[in-house]
Amino acid sequence: MNIKISPSILAADFANLQRDIQRISAADYVHVDVMDGHFVPNISIGLPVVESIRPTTDLPLDVHLMIERPVLWVERFCDAGADIVTCHVEADTEENIHEALRLIHAKGKKAGIVLKPKTPASAVLPFINEVEMILVMTVEPGFGGQKFMADMMPKVQTIRGYIDAMNPACDLEVDGGVDLNTAPLCINSGANVLVAGSAVYKAEDIPQRIAALRG
Ligand code: DX5
Ligand code: ZN
Repeated sequence: MNIKISPSILAADFANLQRDIQRISAADYVHVDVMDGHFVPNISIGLPVVESIRPTTDLPLDVHLMIERPVLWVERFCDAGADIVTCHVEADTEENIHEALRLIHAKGKKAGIVLKPKTPASAVLPFINEVEMILVMTVEPGFGGQKFMADMMPKVQTIRGYIDAMNPACDLEVDGGVDLNTAPLCINSGANVLVAGSAVYKAEDIPQRIAALRG
């Protein structure tokens, strides 16, 4: 499988964001972690930052919304320059998540869903035919630099099975604690997109690290 790398700019230097986005030009996506202080116990970046970074790279912006009621915000993130917008299934009712995915598609962008560690694989089933990406969290969302939860691998394998059977073009992404040691576990479990914050930005040679993470 062709493995894609989506470095998380949560690990970048926010005072030098343009430079740090150019440093990951060997990657496939730019992963943008949006946090609202309600859905997760942290606040990170929002619409003005997405708008400002859009012209600095040709890479697609993979925007991970860790916010309550994403249905109220997805159109504005699309307008700000997101290419892929992912919403947590835990962040609203099933009906409103369907509506959020519909609004993202109406903007001509790719839509995805995200599962927190305690959310079972089966939670993707109501949405699997409406998404271009499924993201499985391998840490509790909210902070970079946490320890990888290897016990999420059976869930990744189950969702890989669902994707192959029901929507084979869908990307399967993992996020949290992905480094040179844990990336092979994710790939062997069926993930094809790896988010990596610390593992990319702490590297001496970032292009070499991105290549190494692909396996
Ligand atoms: C966690 C974020 C992740 C995080 C990953 O809430 O969704 O994208 O930045 O960082 P690392 O790779 O350092 O665990
Ligand atoms: Zn993320």
